[in-house]
Amino acid sequence: MTLTKKNYNNPVAATVTGILDLFRKQVPAGVLKATDRLEGKQVLVDGSSSGLGYAVAMDCARRGARVIMACRSGIPEKGETIRRMTGNPNVSMVPVDFADIRSINHLTETLKNDFPPSDIIICNAGIVPKKSRQTPQGLEEMFMVNYFSKFIFINELLEKGCLNQTAGIPRILFVASESHRNPESFNWDSFGLYREYTIGKSIELYGYYKLLLTTFAAELSRKLNPDGSVHYSVFALCPGPINSNIGREAPAVFQPLLKLVFGLFFRSPEKAAVPVMYLAASPDMEGKPFDYLFLMNRRLIDEKAADPANGKRLWNLSEELLQRLQS
Ligand SMILES: NC(=O)c1ccc[n+]([C@@H]2O[C@H](COP(=O)([O-])OP(=O)(O)OC[C@H]3O[C@@H](n4cnc5c(N)ncnc54)[C@H](OP(=O)(O)O)[C@@H]3O)[C@@H](O)[C@H]2O)c1
Repeated sequence: MTLTKKNYNNPVAATVTGILDLFRKQVPAGVLKATDRLEGKQVLVDGSSSGLGYAVAMDCARRGARVIMACRSGIPEKGETIRRMTGNPNVSMVPVDFADIRSINHLTETLKNDFPPSDIIICNAGIVPKKSRQTPQGLEEMFMVNYFSKFIFINELLEKGCLNQTAGIPRILFVASESHRNPESFNWDSFGLYREYTIGKSIELYGYYKLLLTTFAAELSRKLNPDGSVHYSVFALCPGPINSNIGREAPAVFQPLLKLVFGLFFRSPEKAAVPVMYLAASPDMEGKPFDYLFLMNRRLIDEKAADPANGKRLWNLSEELLQRLQS
């Protein structure tokens, strides 16, 4: 499918595109099997209090993993429910607010001090806010939660030795979106700057931050695997439209319609979790430096995201921004 620009420029276009995508011909990259087990693996799933992340955490627990749920809410009840429903006692919850750098620092310290290194990290948390909001460090919240927090989190995990390199190749997953193809170009001059916006602009910016995330994922893979051999697998994916809580900030007047459309046409979080679980658990994915799935279809990422020059530029700008915030 060729995506024309503007497919995700507003909530209606994004919803229609998401629904139409479900009806297009699928060419699955592989099959997630019941035998793809995770015994002996520790999986961290963030944003797992709700929607996709919760379904992923549940399936990881079912497949025998030790699961760490890094969440802003739902502690401890979401983890208790997963323990009860799966019979897996090894489900822990740790608090984090990805809008706040100090909270990320605290999370990675907790992971370093209280847990063994993880085998699989699933960066899932994301938002579609109804308007711009400032984080404690003065950044724009969607920029922070949907992109910059992942840059900080993964780099801290790597620095603090929180990824297990002694039992196979660690996997780092990013829940991105096909909407990363929507922006025509990067806007480097405004990188990290707080700007005001309202709901009409949220979806367009959402696609832009998913472009940053996908560009980061590709650059991370290049940086972690510089010599041709694979030390870390970095995977990104779009799970397709999900009947989740992502539309929670849509205006109240649209909520009933949204619930109806989501319920009728969008996939359940359990179904949407399949490509995530395939990338996390399938032996097919062992030893790959990078991959991207849309639903279960293997796709190339947008060429802007794949371009190493853009990856380097994004990495440098992100490092500089972090240094400025810390000085
Ligand atoms: N829904 C879709 O159609 C769709 C399509 C493509 C991609 N995605 C992506 O899928 C991922 C999961 O979204 P979803 O659809 O499952 O939505 P969801 O039900 O709203 O779940 C989002 C999760 O992110 C967490 N989160 C939000 N802000 C956070 C913060 N500051 N700190 C920590 N956690 C935070 C939420 O925690 P709380 O419960 O505490 O708010 C929740 O657990 C997102 O990255 C989204 O962009 C979704």
